Amino acid sequence: MRILVINGPNLNMLGIREPEVYGKSTFQDLLSLLDRVAAEEDIEIEQYQSNHEGCLVDKIQEAYGKFDGIVINPAAYTHTSVAILDALKAVDLPAVEVHISDVDSREPFRQISYAGLACKKTIKGLGFEGYRQAILFLKNALQ
Ligand code: DQA
Repeated sequence: MRILVINGPNLNMLGIREPEVYGKSTFQDLLSLLDRVAAEEDIEIEQYQSNHEGCLVDKIQEAYGKFDGIVINPAAYTHTSVAILDALKAVDLPAVEVHISDVDSREPFRQISYAGLACKKTIKGLGFEGYRQAILFLKNALQ
């Protein structure tokens, strides 16, 4: 089973960026954690991060025929990107949307998710644990 984990803009700044919202753990901590989860669960994962909308669209398109599912935190593009929504719909792979923070309790503009419309599940406000739960959800759904 192959799962693609995609992180959008500014998530590479975890640990530095707004620690009161996103915590003090770094992006490298997240990558290492998910590599460990994949090894424990006997799943192959690839992790990808970009600050550019088109690169995220390209990566989702490339997943077609190569991956069985997608975990995606589109970050700020969650709330703006019809292109990412359309890419997820185009490849039609089971996808789970993750947000580190509880977007529902933040600014009103964060409560709109385009990408979420193409996802089987959204996990928010659980920190890095949300990614682990997303991987486990896909593993269970794909078995
Ligand atoms: C985020 C929430 C988004 O609103 C924000 O733009 C991010 C991170 C989260 O993981 O909580 O960059 O997706």
